[in-house]
Amino acid sequence: MRAALYHPRHGYYTNLRGFGADGDFITSPERHPAFGWLLGRQALDVWEALDRPTPFKVLELGAGSGALAESLVRFLRGEGVHELVYTLDEISPSLRDVQRQRLTDAAFRWEGAAEAAHFIVANEVADALPVVRAVVRGGRFRELRVGPELTFVEADDAPAELEAYFAALHFMPPEGSVVDVCLELGDWVRQVATRLQKGVALVIDYAASPPRDSLLTYYHHSLGSDPLIRLGQQDISAHVDLRMLVRLAIGEGLRAGATAQRGLLLNLGLSQVQAVLTGSTDRRELGQLVDPDAAGGQIAAVFLLRGMPADYKPAGAVGREWPAPSGVPSLPPDRDEAEFLSQWHEAFGHATDN
Ligand SMILES: C[S@@+](CC[C@H](N)C(=O)[O-])C[C@H]1O[C@@H](n2cnc3c(N)ncnc32)[C@H](O)[C@@H]1O
Repeated sequence: MRAALYHPRHGYYTNLRGFGADGDFITSPERHPAFGWLLGRQALDVWEALDRPTPFKVLELGAGSGALAESLVRFLRGEGVHELVYTLDEISPSLRDVQRQRLTDAAFRWEGAAEAAHFIVANEVADALPVVRAVVRGGRFRELRVGPELTFVEADDAPAELEAYFAALHFMPPEGSVVDVCLELGDWVRQVATRLQKGVALVIDYAASPPRDSLLTYYHHSLGSDPLIRLGQQDISAHVDLRMLVRLAIGEGLRAGATAQRGLLLNLGLSQVQAVLTGSTDRRELGQLVDPDAAGGQIAAVFLLRGMPADYKPAGAVGREWPAPSGVPSLPPDRDEAEFLSQWHEAFGHATDN
């Protein structure tokens, strides 16, 4: 998985440029720019709770096309956050190029990603961390390794860390079941924790706790489950054990809590956004973000906190009174809608022009 995604020449992410309709999969910030706008409210909530630090430091891990960064910063600028540093920690050289071309605000930078930040956000990044695959036989794990013929080969054993992982959970998956487990999650959480001295981190991802066979591939928007084909050409991801992530974060001295993406966005005022964006494209895509049977229910958001005032509760976890929204970004109308609007305008233009 590491080679298929991150090989310096042939890795999928090493060369990726297109996201959304042109790419292989769609993420929430790609689906609708109001996603980043709403997370901007969460960032603003942290800024205010910390007494408006100058500069306010935001760090985004794995920023993709820069869609989230763009609308989040636009929101913060609109709220008067002038002294702002927004750092992008991005592993992919091609995506760094895409981000540099797109993100022109003076807040953006790509250096200093190891420094501490007040607000850290990672959307669908932990699910791109490589996993180990194993099967349970006779109450023990056997690793499924990749053989020379590009097929899975069952080994006699599995890394000791895998046994330790499930021992820590006090859970043994049923006989014969396959599990995809990210043994790097602890290192990743530690890296987040060291960059969070005083602030909030928001980790948003597809969740599977305890781990199961959750590995998925995406190629031109078709979903698959064989990671050994189209190497370097298709995306591979595995759901994230967010319960383990919380446990690891608490072990690093952080406070932690979780909600579903649906709850997160509603707490941040999605209904207000839905009331102002009534175009059919907007309605459809905003609905997808909070659909309990799709992204709204399958994606979870984990808040990690350190050094925040004792009575602080993240707005995205508990909600708050929001002022009437202004400047919410919308999607362009789709073809049917644009056609309808232009016909409408032709027929009734004179009545709607004023
Ligand atoms: C599924 S994409 C999500 C992109 C974006 N966050 C979004 O929601 O549209 C995963 C992103 O994480 C990046 N990534 C993966 N592993 C990373 C790592 N270890 N450090 C920094 N970026 C990483 C990938 O290059 C890509 O930009």
